[in-house]
Amino acid sequence: MRRKLVAGNWKMHGLRAQLPEIEAIAAAAAANPSVDAALCVPYTLIHPAAQVAGVLPIGAQDLHEADKGAHTGCISAPMLVEEGATLTIVGHSERRGDQHETSHDAYMKSSAAHRHGLTVILCVGETQVERDAGRAERVVQAQIEKSLPDDAHGDWLTLAYEPRWAIGTGRTPTMEEIAAMHAIARAKLHQMIGDPALDVRILYGGSVTGANAGEILAVENVDGALVGGASLTADKFVPIIQAAKALSA
Ligand code: PGA
Repeated sequence: MRRKLVAGNWKMHGLRAQLPEIEAIAAAAAANPSVDAALCVPYTLIHPAAQVAGVLPIGAQDLHEADKGAHTGCISAPMLVEEGATLTIVGHSERRGDQHETSHDAYMKSSAAHRHGLTVILCVGETQVERDAGRAERVVQAQIEKSLPDDAHGDWLTLAYEPRWAIGTGRTPTMEEIAAMHAIARAKLHQMIGDPALDVRILYGGSVTGANAGEILAVENVDGALVGGASLTADKFVPIIQAAKALSA
């Protein structure tokens, strides 16, 4: 039985003035123990957020694959752990797009995170052009194939399917399209790691809100949501946690 996970991604948003939002989100997480919640914040907020987050896991949004070295501006898994992070997003489409990260980068980064005890949310997803060309399935399968770390296990790895054209746009795929892609992702995982694939959570991400979360989270093989814009305030994020709770025993 896979517990639902609702993870927020604050991207490049948030100063210490927003810590009360994190406290409010943490209170909601504590009040809804049948759902797993988490919040991935900018590096500068990891430590202060972890101080106020209680049971709410605080994570990063990226990391460098090396533990240390001459990599100006980068941050490593041991540094994140020291600040209080317990998870990290890897391979987000904004990293793949803006920073030209490849699936191999995501593989290396996921492996580094796991080496240091961070849990990982590994993102995959096609562009609009790829979907229009009928290549969405193959693109996602190839991303999983190349970025899935060795010894992947549901204890520490979560996959997130995020169609790039749905991120921050207010557009979402149909429920049938989500179901189809999540089934494909599950099958790909199973082909790669066998039955442990049944324990790996697969989140949907891209324009999830309190208004559509109930419908999306009820789709087969959707084990939670990765939420950007609607995770920035408790009043928008908590309804998504509650929608997950309504579907959890
Ligand atoms: P969004 O972002 O919810 O703002 O579409 C999702 C994400 O990028 O993880």
